[in-house]
Amino acid sequence: MKISVCGKGGSGKSTVVTLLANGMRERGYKPLVVDSDESNSGLYQMLGFDKPPVPLMELVGGKKIVLKQMVSRYSAGESEPEMNVLTQNEILLQDIPPQHIVEKDSIRLVGIGKILQSLEGCACPMGVLSREFLKKLHLKEDEVAIVDMEAGIEHFGRGVETSIDSVLVVVEPSLESITLAEKVKRLASGVGINRIWAVMNKVNSEDLASKLTNELAGRGIAIIGSIPYDPEIFEACLDGQPLGKGEAAREAGKILDTLFPNEN
Ligand SMILES: Nc1ncnc2c1ncn2[C@@H]1O[C@H](COP(=O)(O)OP(=O)(O)O)[C@@H](O)[C@H]1O
Ligand SMILES: [Mg+2]
Repeated sequence: MKISVCGKGGSGKSTVVTLLANGMRERGYKPLVVDSDESNSGLYQMLGFDKPPVPLMELVGGKKIVLKQMVSRYSAGESEPEMNVLTQNEILLQDIPPQHIVEKDSIRLVGIGKILQSLEGCACPMGVLSREFLKKLHLKEDEVAIVDMEAGIEHFGRGVETSIDSVLVVVEPSLESITLAEKVKRLASGVGINRIWAVMNKVNSEDLASKLTNELAGRGIAIIGSIPYDPEIFEACLDGQPLGKGEAAREAGKILDTLFPNEN
């Protein structure tokens, strides 16, 4: 299974990814977290790693190489999804060189790439590499990929979701976040994905929960779970510490009941 977690910047994508990955591990799965958001500086810490993996972008020769390929494809009038930045036809987790994948307690993490310098150009090559990596990634039965997507919806334009089977959109209590969820639903349906759910996050009252639920239901968006505002999460992120097993983690467990119904 390949799951993408998307939503507005700051809505809680990395938090949800971490809570779900921890829950999957507890259920005996081997989650692979794919950091596909170049602005995620603390994801590895939320997951409990000491250091992030070397980005996959370096494995393919760097952003410039990918950008060059993009430019030559565009100039030849070819469409973007034809690009072939990875030479292998299929990628197994064991084939990824060790410096590009970190592992701890059955959770693995890979990163696509980061913007490191000013004026280094756009993040488009990251989207291309994400798409190609996910397309070629071959998972064993007990392995699940969970992708921490970049904020917004550009990844849909880039076709990153081509090989994704389930989309979770994180919705915090804001109109912007709700509106984005509506767009995500439309775009994901448009590429043939029918497992699309909203995860309500940072919900700190019953009133707010019912308001958000109504707003989402009115837009035809199914809700897979609701994660409360949890000060422990906020503090752990601030201190660069791994996320704990509090109330938010328990609620994330309920989301897994829907994602993996066969277990019940
Ligand atoms: N359920 C929650 N309770 C408390 N704080 C949260 C919760 N979810 C996210 N946060 C906080 O919100 C901020 C953004 O979360 P993050 O997961 O990094 O968002 P994103 O990955 O979407 O940018 C962080 O400071 C994080 O600690
Ligand atoms: Mg993030």
